[in-house]
Amino acid sequence: MPNDLDPPAAAPRAVALVTGASSGIGAAIARALAADGCAVVLAARRTDQLEHLAAELRARGAEVAVAACDVTDAAAVDGAVRDTLARWGRLDVVVANAGSYLRRPADRITRADFESAFAVNFWGAFHVVQAALPHLLARGAGHLVLMTSFDARKALPHDGAYAAAKAALASYAGALRQTLRGRGVHVCTLFPGRVDTPMCDGLEVPAISAKIPADRVARAVLRAIRGRRAEVIVPWHCRLLLWADTLSPRLGDWFVRVLGLDGRERSPADGDRTKLRP
Ligand SMILES: NC(=O)c1ccc[n+]([C@@H]2O[C@H](COP(=O)([O-])OP(=O)(O)OC[C@H]3O[C@@H](n4cnc5c(N)ncnc54)[C@H](OP(=O)(O)O)[C@@H]3O)[C@@H](O)[C@H]2O)c1
Repeated sequence: MPNDLDPPAAAPRAVALVTGASSGIGAAIARALAADGCAVVLAARRTDQLEHLAAELRARGAEVAVAACDVTDAAAVDGAVRDTLARWGRLDVVVANAGSYLRRPADRITRADFESAFAVNFWGAFHVVQAALPHLLARGAGHLVLMTSFDARKALPHDGAYAAAKAALASYAGALRQTLRGRGVHVCTLFPGRVDTPMCDGLEVPAISAKIPADRVARAVLRAIRGRRAEVIVPWHCRLLLWADTLSPRLGDWFVRVLGLDGRERSPADGDRTKLRP
């Protein structure tokens, strides 16, 4: 639940809610939105990390609130949205970014792996949309940004459960965008390649798919919001693999195999179960 939502003195230009703001891409997006003049609600489970970021942003003059929220809990997500509206009376930008990565060869994935990947990466984002959408539609304005992964476009061999959850989210986002056409609410789907965040700390990747800095994704999000872009692939050169895969899935597979795009675990401590993040 949000825990520092006292009424502010004056309304900000725009209000943004970012899930998964305690780390990596979400923290970078929150910084970028705050620098752009938005009041920002930082949502995640680790409130110590959120408070740390909130202090940093407030020191730069931003209006910030912290929402302790597990996105797998629909009621907690509802509460974060409700408290944001109670504090500022509006919600303009919603970034469903919270996610967790699960890495395991496709022939060893269990149902439990799928369930945990979907709980955060699909249902978590769905809960955010469900909670925020009525308010955006009531105003006939606002932006929904859904963080998937390039894995949703070309699944890598160890990423079956994660890629499936992100692909489900991407499909939902595509349907939502078309359903909401003409109703003022912009839906944008992000497809990042490898990003240098704690999520991928334990993974070595080849130079051709080198991890990009999180603030590059954040800048892409801001451009996507301003330009009301439908879908964004970042970095741009990921498209080369997509084109090869569209031409022939076996050609796409070949590039993944020959270039080693799946990456390599630095130190798999627990046998074949190579989950990088709890
Ligand atoms: N890094 C990459 O290469 C990459 C590439 C493509 C897409 N992505 C996507 O980008 C998003 C951000 O990832 P990242 O790279 O920034 O990873 P990260 O540094 O590990 O951050 C993940 C964030 O998600 C939050 N989170 C995880 N489970 C949650 C839950 N149940 N409820 C609420 N928040 C939760 C974490 O916060 P708490 O632990 O504090 O709850 C954290 O803030 C994810 O959706 C990820 O799938 C990442």
